[in-house]
Amino acid sequence: MDYRKLGRSDVEVSRVIFGAWAIGGWMWGGSDDDDAVAAINKAIDVGINTIDTAPVYGFGHSERLVGEAIKGRRDEVVIATKCGIRWDREDGHRPFETEDRDGTRRVVVRNLKADAILEEVEQSLERLGVDCIDLYQCHWPDPTTPIAETMEALNLLIEQGKVRAVGVSNFSVEMIKEALKHGPVASDQPLYNMLDRGIEDELLPYCDRADVGVICYSPLHQGLLTGAVTMEREFKEGDQRRRKPWFQPANRRRVIEFLDKLQPIAETHGKTLAQIAINWCLSQRGVTSAIVGARTPRQVIENAGGAGWRLSDEEIGQIRKWLEELNGPITAD
Ligand SMILES: NC(=O)c1ccc[n+]([C@@H]2O[C@H](COP(=O)([O-])OP(=O)(O)OC[C@H]3O[C@@H](n4cnc5c(N)ncnc54)[C@H](OP(=O)(O)O)[C@@H]3O)[C@@H](O)[C@H]2O)c1
Repeated sequence: MDYRKLGRSDVEVSRVIFGAWAIGGWMWGGSDDDDAVAAINKAIDVGINTIDTAPVYGFGHSERLVGEAIKGRRDEVVIATKCGIRWDREDGHRPFETEDRDGTRRVVVRNLKADAILEEVEQSLERLGVDCIDLYQCHWPDPTTPIAETMEALNLLIEQGKVRAVGVSNFSVEMIKEALKHGPVASDQPLYNMLDRGIEDELLPYCDRADVGVICYSPLHQGLLTGAVTMEREFKEGDQRRRKPWFQPANRRRVIEFLDKLQPIAETHGKTLAQIAINWCLSQRGVTSAIVGARTPRQVIENAGGAGWRLSDEEIGQIRKWLEELNGPITAD
């Protein structure tokens, strides 16, 4: 495994980060807790030193599982969690209704107000069973709260020793610039994979220049780029992938044809398609790490092999050409 410093912070992250959304179960059609704890431990064993979670992933469940898994191993891990998405208070931006893994109705809002963050951090510390969060990230922008107010609260948490570094997620370049006026920002966490390349023109070059780390999420396009999503595969009730454009039959077929082209490149390196998809993200200038979700130790071992080697420039160029031919999904969401 390779490691990188995150932006200008002193936090050192593995290039493959364990993503703990799916293990929370919410929007993934449930999950198995024993597998999840085993997967996190396997991640640490194979050198994945960083775990990315969030309070809303399973409404506290993912953070609790991470806390359980790292008991006795705190020194071996960098914990990244988030703030700003709440289901336990209704004052906030963009309320939406959703269902927990057991069918409980939840109203979820964005809230990055200072008082909300200072309350939320305590809940995360307790669920994780730690006294300091290594990377504390604003999960989604909250346009109803000035970024200055949010940053002031986050800076206070650094002063108090409850947080080591501050990050943002799903922020635009303008928002990151604004945040940087008020304090250090170690990283942004955007969506990025072979099929979602929206950050390439502006955000990646900016973060590279400004020395803001980029830890990208959904590098496997939620499993689609691994080859495990065949035409026959069906997703459980409550799994968001049932409705996602690229997973619909006509689009899925096009992705599978693209993966067939990719297969010889994978074989040249003795790697799997999942490892190619991860390495492709890591090979893009400005990308610090890829946050890869996994539910089982087997997936973790495979995903760790996405780092520590390089696709050639020629292969990267060829893959890019195929992706341009593939273009966007045919059906809308
Ligand atoms: N900040 C944000 O707004 C945001 C948004 C999304 C994600 N994230 C973070 O990024 C992480 C990763 O993103 P993601 O979970 O959306 O997508 P992802 O990493 O692209 O895909 C993860 C899913 O792919 C499947 N998978 C993983 N490894 C595999 C392998 N080796 N072979 C076959 N299938 C495999 C698993 O699902 P199955 O086994 O069920 O197929 C897994 O849950 C999340 O866990 C979260 O930490 C953040």
